[in-house]
Amino acid sequence: MILGLGCEPFIPYASNSVNKTIMKKAFICGSFILVFLFFFSSQWVPPSAQAQPSGEEIFTQGKCARCHTLGRGRFVGPDLLGVGERYSRDDLIRWAKDPESLYTERKKKPINEGYPPMPPMNLSEDDAWKVADYLLEYMPPQGLSESGTIMGQVRNVTTQKPQEGQDVVLISYMGDRKEERHFAKSDSLGVFSFSSLRWDRSYEIMLFHQGVQYVSGKMVFLPGKDEITLDLPVYDTTSSDENISLRSLNLIVYPDNGGSSVNVTSLYVFENSGDTVFTGEQTDSDTTTLVFSIPEEAENVTFSDSVNPEAAERKGEKLYSKLPFLPGMKRIALGYSLPLSQIGEKFSISFDYEVGDLAVFVRKTELGIRVERSGAVAEEIMIHDEAFLKYVLSDLNPGSVTVGVSNISFLKSNMGKYLPAILFFLFVVVGVMYFFYGKNRFSSMNSDK
Ligand code: HEC
Repeated sequence: MILGLGCEPFIPYASNSVNKTIMKKAFICGSFILVFLFFFSSQWVPPSAQAQPSGEEIFTQGKCARCHTLGRGRFVGPDLLGVGERYSRDDLIRWAKDPESLYTERKKKPINEGYPPMPPMNLSEDDAWKVADYLLEYMPPQGLSESGTIMGQVRNVTTQKPQEGQDVVLISYMGDRKEERHFAKSDSLGVFSFSSLRWDRSYEIMLFHQGVQYVSGKMVFLPGKDEITLDLPVYDTTSSDENISLRSLNLIVYPDNGGSSVNVTSLYVFENSGDTVFTGEQTDSDTTTLVFSIPEEAENVTFSDSVNPEAAERKGEKLYSKLPFLPGMKRIALGYSLPLSQIGEKFSISFDYEVGDLAVFVRKTELGIRVERSGAVAEEIMIHDEAFLKYVLSDLNPGSVTVGVSNISFLKSNMGKYLPAILFFLFVVVGVMYFFYGKNRFSSMNSDK
């Protein structure tokens, strides 16, 4: 659900390893991309650690309401008001859980003319029951409007004032297809509103503030509701990184391919403790917010931050993240693999920031990988039945951790390659020893005489 910029056309997110297309587009538009989920009541936002969602919650929290209305006409799928007149409770449960079984039974797919087939929702038995009961019991409330309204307030968190005169764009969707754009401007209280909205669409709010794009998640009007109210915080930007810090870093080192390479995964938790969006230094052609060092020979580099998978660009030994950094925490996962080619190999994992807590987890194998640092003491722990050595280091300046491979088994697994050389070497050593030792013994025997 990552969008391109406010310039046409929107670029759907493509998942190649380092996404240059999006970045290039970003520079052309001279702005940032930022997918930012505004938080608002129950719309498409995962339930907050609620163990037992009700049938209504299952229906509304994105699962069914994304495609079905209750009494408001066709949407992506049919209107489900009174669906109990067409289906038994058991069949409703099957729709919710496993529509394929209905398709197979009725030898018809789709069942309703003019609709696509319904994708499986993978609900648990329990949830499918609950949502079926909800459909059977639902009664639309009285006095609802004919159309919907989305309104909200844009607040500037940095200045602590309502954001007046803010352009706000509303994009309507039919399924995944963009349909229309509507425009509004916020008033002196930062308030905007879009009215006369159709029920059979989903909606997304988008706006730019100081070059940073904010996008809401997709929203739909929930059964019995004709309003959606949003609180939209925006932040002024800064190019200074004074509020950016690396809170913790976990490094995971894991041998791969029978010991011929290691995978390194770095899990970063950064914090922006200010009330501005950090946008880095901007030049005409480039923008960088966070920088990561990776070894030149690193392969299969993957990068993801909490909102945008893989939004970084690699140039040699550096990986540049270009995304604006909102106040709060940001988690970044960076992974790569390193070929192990020699015996006794050492490599270093660098970090470019001062770090409060650093833990290194090294998979304990015959390779004998360990952290080489004076005073680094390993504790053996189990993670998912696998033994790891855990090293804890703290309050470190930017630098690197050296990891060494002592590799008894590296030798073993590469025996084929080294065996002839080793045999030849042994042969020579034995020959030379025999020559001297034999000669010595001979001469000492002589002198004995
Ligand atoms: C991605 C869109 C989508 C989602 C999400 C979705 N449905 Fe559907 N649903 C459809 C479509 C399309 C049909 C029509 C399929 C057909 O006729 O074969 C359908 C058909 C149905 C029907 C039969 C309607 C009729 O009148 O024949 C039921 C009942 C139903 N869905 C329930 C659910 C429930 C419950 C959920 C959530 C757990 C859900 N759907 C989620 C798209 C969706």
